[in-house]
Amino acid sequence: MSGHIHPIHEHLLGRTAKEALLGQRGVCVWMTGLSGSGKSTLAIGLERLLHGQGRYAVVLDGDNVRTGINSDLGFSAADRTENIRRIAEVAKLFVQHGAIVICCFVSPTIAIREHARGIIGAEDFVEVFIDTPLEECERRDVKGLYARARAGEVKDFTGISAPFEPPVEADLVIRTIGRAKEDNATELLNFILPRVTRN
Ligand code: ADX
Repeated sequence: MSGHIHPIHEHLLGRTAKEALLGQRGVCVWMTGLSGSGKSTLAIGLERLLHGQGRYAVVLDGDNVRTGINSDLGFSAADRTENIRRIAEVAKLFVQHGAIVICCFVSPTIAIREHARGIIGAEDFVEVFIDTPLEECERRDVKGLYARARAGEVKDFTGISAPFEPPVEADLVIRTIGRAKEDNATELLNFILPRVTRN
């Protein structure tokens, strides 16, 4: 019997109890886009707006994940797949405890994002494409990585020497060029709010 395999589950409070406490529904907002496309900036803005509305949100991004739980991983295709697998498992735990989890990862291929969707569950997964063209990301070059990738100092760099496959059916596409970041965060907030509201 499954009760003997996972006896603790009979005693733990379930998702519904957590969501009732928080007064919201859990969901994962999965942002994909090139390095420097503006994912983290948007996540910061969205988290603050949600917080201001009394919504409990958590941001997972490269800075807090690749320096910690995934510090053993690099940027080969296999390591990116493992990076995203672990992140998706963590995001799923949060979602099942009622949190709004904002994930910002390049997650460069359709297959890798489908893997994440499969782990988290399609009903809890909102895919948002931060659609900033490569030329613009390279022009911004916030971390100086594009210049280093062009110089051959950084291998397998997404958009330069490793692939990026744009989503074909994202739930929302955000174009950052010529748009105020506040407007993008508000657009995303308005898209997400109905999905996190309990009836
Ligand atoms: S993913 O491909 O596995 O989803 P992730 O989002 O965690 O990537 O990390 C991407 C960030 O790592 C980039 O924004 C950039 O700052 C940094 N980075 C360092 N090397 C690379 C690389 N070869 N390709 C892409 N990003 C890199």
